[in-house]
Order: sequence, then C-alpha cells, then structure tokens
Amino acid sequence: MQLRPFGRHPFTTSEIGFGAWAIGGSWGAQADTDSLAALHRALDLGVTFIDTAAGYGNGRSEKLIARVLRERAASGRSERIFVATKTPPAPGDWPPSPYDRAEDRFSETYLRENLATRCANLGVEKIDFLQLHTWTRAWNRNPIPFKILRQLQREGRIGLIGISTPEQDQNAVIDLMRGGWVDAVQVIYNLFDQEPAAELLDVAQECGVAVIVRVAFDEGALTGKFTAATTFAPDDFRAKYFAGDRLPRVLARVAAIQSDLAGSGYTLPQAALKWVLAHPAVSVVIPGIRNVAQAEANCAVSDLPAMPIALVHQLRRHHWRRGVWYAGK
Ligand SMILES: NC(=O)c1ccc[n+]([C@@H]2O[C@H](COP(=O)([O-])OP(=O)(O)OC[C@H]3O[C@@H](n4cnc5c(N)ncnc54)[C@H](OP(=O)(O)O)[C@@H]3O)[C@@H](O)[C@H]2O)c1
Repeated sequence: MQLRPFGRHPFTTSEIGFGAWAIGGSWGAQADTDSLAALHRALDLGVTFIDTAAGYGNGRSEKLIARVLRERAASGRSERIFVATKTPPAPGDWPPSPYDRAEDRFSETYLRENLATRCANLGVEKIDFLQLHTWTRAWNRNPIPFKILRQLQREGRIGLIGISTPEQDQNAVIDLMRGGWVDAVQVIYNLFDQEPAAELLDVAQECGVAVIVRVAFDEGALTGKFTAATTFAPDDFRAKYFAGDRLPRVLARVAAIQSDLAGSGYTLPQAALKWVLAHPAVSVVIPGIRNVAQAEANCAVSDLPAMPIALVHQLRRHHWRRGVWYAGK
C-alpha cells in the first residue's frame, strides 16, 4: 500500500482508504459480520484512512469502526488509523437552502453536542477529522461554523476540519480553501465527474488542503458490473440514483470507457481508482467497501503500476456533465 502526504499536514495516509457508508445502511441488506471482516482485512492490507458519517445508519458505521479499532488495539497492534467523520446540519433542507442561516443549521450548541455524539460512537476523546456534511455557498462570506470548529480545534476536541462538498456545487469550497478555513475537503472526482480538475484540485494543492476523493465508482457503475437487467432492493438508495433511464444511459458511457481500456491490462474498477490517483492533488481515494473481496480488490490497486499518462489523457474524454442525480433529474 502506497502512502501519500495529507495536504500540508505533517503525516501521510494510505492512498486507498475505506469508504464506510454502505456498512452503515441505505445500500440494501448488509451483515455486520461482513462489514467487520472487511474493515479488518482492509486495515491488514495497509489502509490507514476510514471515512464515515453520523448519517451512515445513524451511528452504525461509526460504532462498527470503533469496535474494529478496539479489537485491534486489544490484540496489541500499534497502528495509527485516521478516522474521518461528518456532522450534518441540524434538521432542515438537504442540502441547506441558500436562504438558511448558518447560525441555525450549525449553531455552537448543536456543533458541540453533535461532536460529543461522534466521540461517543467512535470511542475517542478527539475526532481526527471532522467534516461538515454539507454546506451552501451562501455561508462563504461569513463562515461562522468554521470559526466554531477552529475553537473546538484549539480546545483539543478535533484534529482537522473540513467539508464534504455539496454535490450540486462542489466549487463552493474554493473560497473556503483560499480563506484558510478548511484543512481538507472531500470531493466527488471520477471518470465521469472531472469538473474538480478545472480549478478545485489545483487550488487545494496551492493551499496545502488535503483532498479525499469519494464515489470513484459512481456508486458502483464504474465497476462495470451493472447490466440492463440490474435491479436494486427498495432499501438500496441506488434504486433511486439509477432510476428510469439513468441506468441505460450510464451503461452506454461505461461501455465506451471499457473499449478504451481494452489491452491496457486494467480492469474497469482498477482503472477507475488509478485514474483518480493520477492527479497529484489527491491524498486518498475512498472506495465504498462492503466485504473482504472488495477490500482485497481495492487495496491491491495501490501497488499496480501507475496509469500511463497517455491513458490518463485518453480517459479524460469520458467527462460527463450530467447534472446532479441524488436529488432529482
Ligand atoms: N456526501 C458525502 O459526504 C458522501 C457521499 C457519498 C459517499 N461518501 C463517502 O465516499 C465513500 C465512497 O462512495 P460510495 O461508497 O458512495 O460509492 P463508490 O465508492 O462509488 O461505490 C462503492 C460500491 O461499489 C461496490 N464495489 C466496491 N468495490 C468494488 C469492486 N472492487 N468491484 C465491484 N464492486 C465494488 C460496492 O457496492 P455493491 O457491492 O453493492 O455493488 C460499494 O459499496 C462512501 O462509502 C462514503 O464514505 C460521502
């Protein structure tokens, strides 16, 4: 497993991390035994970065991670695993509306209480990296929540602070990076959504802000395993994400990528991760992992040869500005 600098911060993380959304919920049936085994296997294979959130099963994902870290500490391992979690805005529109006030959605009382719950679920006194989940550009001119989070850092309750970008306006974090408000950002950057390459990734590098890349597989489409016959359980959010004509549209795009990969030696999931890692601003890519086989397949990608630059450039043609699929069409 290769390590990378975490922005300007004085430590490295594994370049493949563990995306811990599906082990919390919203992805159909998921057995905790599979999740625990997947976490252990990924850590055995050198993963040192795990991404979770309050919202992943209302603390289920955080508690599974805490259990695995406890078990490993009890077995005498001396490893440093960096755990990132997220605090959502207090109940209201998702993402926050531009008319919302930051003081209402991320008040100091709310942030302090939420942080205490994150610490309790993760079994720690201090959170390694707390991300706001999510944000509106309307708050950039007076980012009150980050003034409160900087205070919580000074109090020793949080290591690093940042944002998991609102998917409909990822560039909203650019001003915050330039203003020195965030230590790291989590962004969607994949073979389809290449927009962060226009500005966001370069600004992050200039500012020493670490970049965590999420959804490298476009929620599974970029693994190449979906077909026109694929269906999702009603409690799998992908039943909505790939609803209507979205699945056939994405399948046609995936087929075009696969024809570019013919003879490259990479499978599609390997290429999807290697292509993201080809950007020097990226500190860690966090594929979602639900079982031991996925932990092994995704961790193994780190030690494959870097993607040849000609192929990196060729795959840029698959950039697809399709709009936002989470909330509507
Ligand atoms: N707003 C936010 O902050 C936000 C939003 C989304 C994600 N995230 C974070 O980013 C992480 C990654 O995103 P994601 O999990 O949504 O999507 P993703 O990484 O694009 O896709 C993950 C899914 O692909 C399948 N998969 C994983 N490895 C595979 C492999 N080697 N071969 C075939 N299939 C494989 C698994 O689902 P199946 O086995 O069911 O196919 C897995 O759950 C999340 O876990 C979470 O930590 C954050």
